[in-house]
Amino acid sequence: MKNYLKMVDISKTYDTHGNIVRALKGANFSVKRGTVHGLLGENGAGKSTLMKILFGLEKKDSGKICLDNQEVKTKNPCDAFNYGIGMVQQHFSLIEDFTVIENIFLNIEIDNRIGLVMREHEELAIKKLLQESGFIIDSSKKICELSMGQRQKVEILRILHRGADILILDEPTSVLTEQEIRDLFRVVRKLKERGKTIIFITHKVEEVLEICDEVTILRKGETAGTGETKKLDKKQIVQMIVGAPFLFEIKHRKHEAKEVLLSIKDLHIKKGDIETVKGVSFDVRAGEIVAIAGVSGNGQQEIVEAIFGLRNYLDGQILVESKNIRGLSPRERRKIGINYIPEDRLNVGSCMDATIMENLIIDKYYERSFSNNGCLNINKLEQFSTKLVNKYEVKTPSINNYVRNLSGGNIQRVIIAREIKPETKVLIACEPAMGLDIRSVKYVYDVLLNLREAQKAILLLASDLDEVISLVDRIIVMYKGKITAYMNNPELFNKKEIGEYMLGIKT
Ligand SMILES: Nc1ncnc2c1ncn2[C@@H]1O[C@H](COP(=O)(O)OP(=O)(O)OP(=O)(O)O)[C@@H](O)[C@H]1O
Ligand SMILES: [Mg+2]
Repeated sequence: MKNYLKMVDISKTYDTHGNIVRALKGANFSVKRGTVHGLLGENGAGKSTLMKILFGLEKKDSGKICLDNQEVKTKNPCDAFNYGIGMVQQHFSLIEDFTVIENIFLNIEIDNRIGLVMREHEELAIKKLLQESGFIIDSSKKICELSMGQRQKVEILRILHRGADILILDEPTSVLTEQEIRDLFRVVRKLKERGKTIIFITHKVEEVLEICDEVTILRKGETAGTGETKKLDKKQIVQMIVGAPFLFEIKHRKHEAKEVLLSIKDLHIKKGDIETVKGVSFDVRAGEIVAIAGVSGNGQQEIVEAIFGLRNYLDGQILVESKNIRGLSPRERRKIGINYIPEDRLNVGSCMDATIMENLIIDKYYERSFSNNGCLNINKLEQFSTKLVNKYEVKTPSINNYVRNLSGGNIQRVIIAREIKPETKVLIACEPAMGLDIRSVKYVYDVLLNLREAQKAILLLASDLDEVISLVDRIIVMYKGKITAYMNNPELFNKKEIGEYMLGIKT
């Protein structure tokens, strides 16, 4: 089969205020028509940059792009759409207060001669598209009412509506639950049957082996390998990504958990008029990792927010080292050793428009040792930040680089660097490995296991059950605001059983 899309010798350097990053160094990328092509590589390897160049969101320094051997110039997304190229970006760009239909509408140009959008006509077209694609979404719902999986589908619909033939999906599965991933794969297969070409970025090698026909691996801005997935196995692909043999092994040594550090007693939480947490009780001890498993939206997020002081609760108690922490502000909670890695790393976990240093010192700058009579001790703050950036291996030319310029995995490293401290007693980690490359996942797991060894209490929220099972000492399953199972023996953890409790099949 002939190559349909060819990107040849693509280079790109970012320069923000003198911070130079060579994101792509002569990368090559070829895709055949009607196939699903995986694009892999570590955090910061240049995957999103390469695809943004194809979609006209970034300008390449050199190289060329060909479709069916004809050179094309995609200076902006409008050009790209004209060539049939559409992209769902790593971070969604939907308007929360608009409905599904309205968000898809945003794509279209003014339609008739007096400048009005032919709303009814467009609505019909969108409904037809919904049917053809096999998506199940209520198109009159607002985006803020949709799950991540449904939002992903709206993004795909948006580019299909613009007539895309090549669909670029940048890490579409990192925010999805297992069921949503199954749904997405069904849709991808259907699109492929209809002759569409799909470029699929992910960090999960199993997904590539399942859904992709071919794969290209980027390493440090260069093409490190390419091949048919049926001729490759997981080990070979991981080796191409990392650049050396890499063994993913989790050392979860048995040890005794000690005193209770976090205790939740009969907690009730209301969100609007709905009681989302209905009498939940559990403990987390020093030296253990406890996971709350549950399909997103069953009350677990509210519990976490209540522990960190971001949400009020109706009734019940939250105790840290036997002290009731009701009424303490998030800053006061941090002071007594509660730390939080939120799921939404861009809007809650970090400030994108601030520098790495500013993000790292946000709960430090006011301390005596870092400021004097209202003046910041910049030298000390810089030393402190540089140490963390080195320790957590954040890939950046400088601590004064903006967080928004970092790749997804490196943003997570900044957050982890800020949240894990010697003083930490209770760490709440929500999807800490989401969107990370295999080396970083291993790194985060090691960090959590070291905290466990250091007698901290860790509460983990993660949708990847394999991750949960391999990492934790106990599992609590939540369904509709209640705990439906306490599983205390890691040797008996069973994915199927946990799944049944999560879906309310077993109670
Ligand atoms: N707008 C930008 N300004 C400056 N540097 C950038 C910008 N976008 C990306 N970079 C840098 O370019 C490099 C490649 O980033 P890119 O986002 O393409 O990586 P990626 O392979 O998609 O990683 P991830 O798996 O974490 O999403 C990284 O070092 C990143 O920090
Ligand atoms: Mg990316």
